[in-house]
Amino acid sequence: MSNFFKHKGITHPLLDQYVLNHTSQESPLLSQLFRDTYVRMHHPRRTSDHLIGKFLEMICRMINPLKVLEIGTFTGYGALAMAAGLSEKAELHTIEINDEMQPFIEKWFKESPDSIKIHLHIGDALRIIPELQDTFDLVFIDGEKNQYIDYYEAALKKTRTGGFLIADNTLWSGKVLENDIPENDHFTNGLKRFNDHVQADPRVDNLLLPVFDGMMIIRVNDR
Ligand SMILES: C[S@@+](CC[C@H](N)C(=O)[O-])C[C@H]1O[C@@H](n2cnc3c(N)ncnc32)[C@H](O)[C@@H]1O
Repeated sequence: MSNFFKHKGITHPLLDQYVLNHTSQESPLLSQLFRDTYVRMHHPRRTSDHLIGKFLEMICRMINPLKVLEIGTFTGYGALAMAAGLSEKAELHTIEINDEMQPFIEKWFKESPDSIKIHLHIGDALRIIPELQDTFDLVFIDGEKNQYIDYYEAALKKTRTGGFLIADNTLWSGKVLENDIPENDHFTNGLKRFNDHVQADPRVDNLLLPVFDGMMIIRVNDR
């Protein structure tokens, strides 16, 4: 099994391999982007991988959104995976705060015919989201883990009734179960607060799907 697949997800290696053997293959472009991310980035584990990418692509194919928002682009794997599942009329806005990532992201977007659907914004999602004119059908929250409630509140205002938000890493390797989280563990505390916040929110229906590192799927109700 390639080391590149040992990245996230199910821990049993045989089951991991079985899942990959029964999932459509990664496109050559996404495979190369994944490898380049591992070669060139300091924190490559931030990227989505083949299974998460395929999950995001399938969600797009299932709900056929016309307007998609991604918070946290990193190297662009998730954006390109979602774009592959979008119709030609659809648009995906993806926001990355780290301007040093821009040349890397743009280089890979240029390689893909799907990038015509993608608008890259460099800057803080919390500043950019309120300025976006679109109403979104699907939002993928995957930025800084201690800011999830702020992203959620900002994005919810821009999501249509019946639209979806999906938040990654909401189980945080199971750390959300722990009770005595040190105050300075901002990511675990932020994710716990986020999960409780969504659970108590009457504006939405939610499912914390125990796949990968926890995918919180949220449907916006009539508000
Ligand atoms: C987990 S990575 C995103 C992975 C990507 N969504 C994917 O599917 O491959 C998180 C990214 O969010 C970015 N980020 C953190 N805070 C942000 C903010 N306030 N606005 C936009 N991007 C942010 C980080 O710089 C990092 O590149």
